[in-house]
Amino acid sequence: MAFATRHFVRAASSAAAAAAAKKLVIKHVTVIGGGLMGSGIAQVAAASGHTVVLVDQSDEILKKSTKGIEESLKRVTKKKFADKPEAGAEFIEKTLKNLTMSTDAAAVVHSTDLVIEAIVENLEVKNDLFKRLDKFAPDHTIFASNTSSLQITNLANSTTRQDRFGGLHFFNPVPMMKLVEVIRTPMTSQKTFESLMDFSKAVGKSPVSCKDTPGFIVNRLLVPYMMEAVRLFERGDASKEDIDVAMKLGAGYPMGPFELLDYVGLDTSKYIIDGWHSLEPNNPLFAPSPLLNKLVAEKKLGKKTGEGFYKYK
Ligand code: NAI
Repeated sequence: MAFATRHFVRAASSAAAAAAAKKLVIKHVTVIGGGLMGSGIAQVAAASGHTVVLVDQSDEILKKSTKGIEESLKRVTKKKFADKPEAGAEFIEKTLKNLTMSTDAAAVVHSTDLVIEAIVENLEVKNDLFKRLDKFAPDHTIFASNTSSLQITNLANSTTRQDRFGGLHFFNPVPMMKLVEVIRTPMTSQKTFESLMDFSKAVGKSPVSCKDTPGFIVNRLLVPYMMEAVRLFERGDASKEDIDVAMKLGAGYPMGPFELLDYVGLDTSKYIIDGWHSLEPNNPLFAPSPLLNKLVAEKKLGKKTGEGFYKYK
């Protein structure tokens, strides 16, 4: 009997261990921040059969998010179901059925498997949010941030679930861009990491993994490259037009570095490089540029303000 009990206990505990080690299949997702990125993430998650709640600060913002998602879905459907309009209409209807909106994050996270944060790029504001949601979300819930430039470890440390915390870095525009960088900190568990990789594939993306290092993969290579182009121009070695033509025709890039800087937003690029410079002041790749700083001070932020390195009508 003693043996049977011990055997039973051992079997039960190994079953529990196996269940605990099993990856979490993510079905219900809460996306916080209904701006450019959050709307796109909510859209692709809902379109791939997840139930999604999109959270922002006001109904007015969420109305805008809904409109943006509806318009984006129409564009996607036009391509995907070019000669099957009925299937297209059904796809839009199903996607929108999977999506609800809320202004109360704490009230909606109680049954969620994954929280994806895509709010303003500010460590304090993000930490406040995660700290608060940590109290309301169930134990199993994974938290992820879409941050471009903040350390995931710093965000994870605002919660008590560091092992269930990672980065999910999507690219703009989310419905079009196939890449997701899945970021693991030294505290992210294997189970969490695998669940995030699986989720990224489930929403139709191609995930790559990276440690929690400034810029992850894409921005770590792209931002210093763009800054080096600005320095080349600042020194008077070549015109910005010629640098753009050179990289398009010589390296096969779809946009030159100045066109790309204007597209991304000069303020965003400055914010990223300043952050990295403060982390590693002696790294010449992260050195700020007087010209970029001047354009940002003059509110010439790129396409969105009508002028950056180039003028836009
Ligand atoms: P955005 O400004 O378009 O949207 C941010 C949204 O968050 C706004 O609608 C705002 O009302 C909302 N928000 C702010 N604080 C909130 C709070 N406490 N609770 C709920 N909602 C709140 O910003 P965007 O471009 O979508 O960026 C969001 C995040 O994604 C940032 O961390 C950014 O670094 C990252 N990211 C941005 C990319 C881009 O190309 N814009 C690319 C990849 C990542």
